[in-house]
Amino acid sequence: MKRLIAGITALAVTVAVTAFGLGYAAAQNAPKPPSNDWLLDAPDDTERFKLLQRYLRGFDQPMWEVGYRYEGIHDALKRSNFKLAAYHWDKIKTTIENGYLKRPARRANAEALLFASGVHAEVKTAFESGDSTKAWAAFAKARTTCMACHDAEKLPEMNGQAMFHDLAIPTR
Ligand code: HEC
Repeated sequence: MKRLIAGITALAVTVAVTAFGLGYAAAQNAPKPPSNDWLLDAPDDTERFKLLQRYLRGFDQPMWEVGYRYEGIHDALKRSNFKLAAYHWDKIKTTIENGYLKRPARRANAEALLFASGVHAEVKTAFESGDSTKAWAAFAKARTTCMACHDAEKLPEMNGQAMFHDLAIPTR
């Protein structure tokens, strides 16, 4: 009887130890619970920078903002809010420059068509003049320049967007 009890006890201990061991191993291999620390959880700074680089995208997102501000300029001119038009036009410059910080190959055409060409400065002066006729003519020039860059970058489909066709430009 004693031996039977000893045997059962030994078996129970073995089972318990094995179960604990398996449970521990499972806990080690279990996927981590979801965490919001997508940067802090990365193994090192190189991985963190890779994540940031991916998250910050390429030229598309700055252009998305540029499109939004371009529409903002049209709206501002309709309301004779020339100061707001100049504000958006300034931000468009910053945004395109930040764009080619990420995608340097886009710089040459942006410089040649919009900045070094003097078009950006010219359009800005026209908006700041507060003269409606000059401001609308400048908007037309901006539109042509945006579209020229899309052509130069071999993306003519970008010129098929509503903002380049449905935003009326008064000619008078
Ligand atoms: C470097 C020359 C360049 C200039 C100048 C430029 N664009 Fe672009 N635009 C691009 C490129 C390149 C893309 C496509 C981006 C991509 O594929 O990552 C683009 C895409 C766009 C898009 C689509 C973005 C999206 O993903 O929804 C809009 C909107 C746009 N441009 C508006 C404008 C407007 C408005 C102007 C003028 C104020 C302008 N662009 C000036 C090069 C330019």
